[in-house]
Amino acid sequence: MTLVVKNLSKKFDDAVILDNFSFKMEEGEIVALVGESGTGKTTFIRILNSLIPIDQGCVMINDAKLVDTDENGQVTYTSGSERWAYDNEIGMVFQDYQLFPNMSALENLMEAPLAQKILSKQAIREKAVALLEQMGLGEKINAMPKTLSGGQAQRVAIARSMMLDPKVLCFDEPTSALDKDSASIVGEMIQSIAAEGTGIIVVTHDINFAEEYSTRVLSSAEFI
Ligand SMILES: Nc1ncnc2c1ncn2[C@@H]1O[C@H](COP(=O)(O)OP(=O)(O)OP(=O)(O)O)[C@@H](O)[C@H]1O
Ligand SMILES: [Mg+2]
Repeated sequence: MTLVVKNLSKKFDDAVILDNFSFKMEEGEIVALVGESGTGKTTFIRILNSLIPIDQGCVMINDAKLVDTDENGQVTYTSGSERWAYDNEIGMVFQDYQLFPNMSALENLMEAPLAQKILSKQAIREKAVALLEQMGLGEKINAMPKTLSGGQAQRVAIARSMMLDPKVLCFDEPTSALDKDSASIVGEMIQSIAAEGTGIIVVTHDINFAEEYSTRVLSSAEFI
């Protein structure tokens, strides 16, 4: 797996967030993305997850392209099966988890794969249960999100992000709401996901966490 970001530019009104930024990541890497508040860390991973449109550049994972820009500066996002291929290669765990509040933990995991219809409902359920058990949430399979602790909700969000076997997984401040022990558990979880071959980008303010669990540090100062 290789994630390639080429000449990425993004402005919000007049504020330049990314200016011709290029970046490459290989499988198994854990890239800690650090930097001052408001420098575009969340924006960058939201761009990779096609939640924010760019002004210019190219983003691809292996041969699957999200967006490219021609020599005239015309930006084109892929669509159809090409886009589907890209979207399946990447996942995100949001800072506030963004679990569906009206669905149980299990239903949260099953939602996206069911919509994709690649696996049978039974196979999806089995995979979801196995992932929740792997995350130490065997007792919480049918729990509703509001009854979960912060750490448990986050593990549900991590499990959900793994349902489609992404090649690249982005985490936004995964430890900001956690105590030290829970943060270590998340760090080890991230390392074991990376050991399976997934490339990880983890946005963090926690320099100790970055040093302990990442394989490389990227500063958002490099965005511009
Ligand atoms: N949808 C948007 N519209 C306009 N401006 C935005 C939008 N999203 C983010 N911004 C601005 O872009 C800048 C970068 O925001 P971003 O959330 O990416 O920063 P960050 O590095 O993640 O910061 P933090 O460490 O505080 O989470 C900020 O100045 C923010 O106000
Ligand atoms: Mg942020």
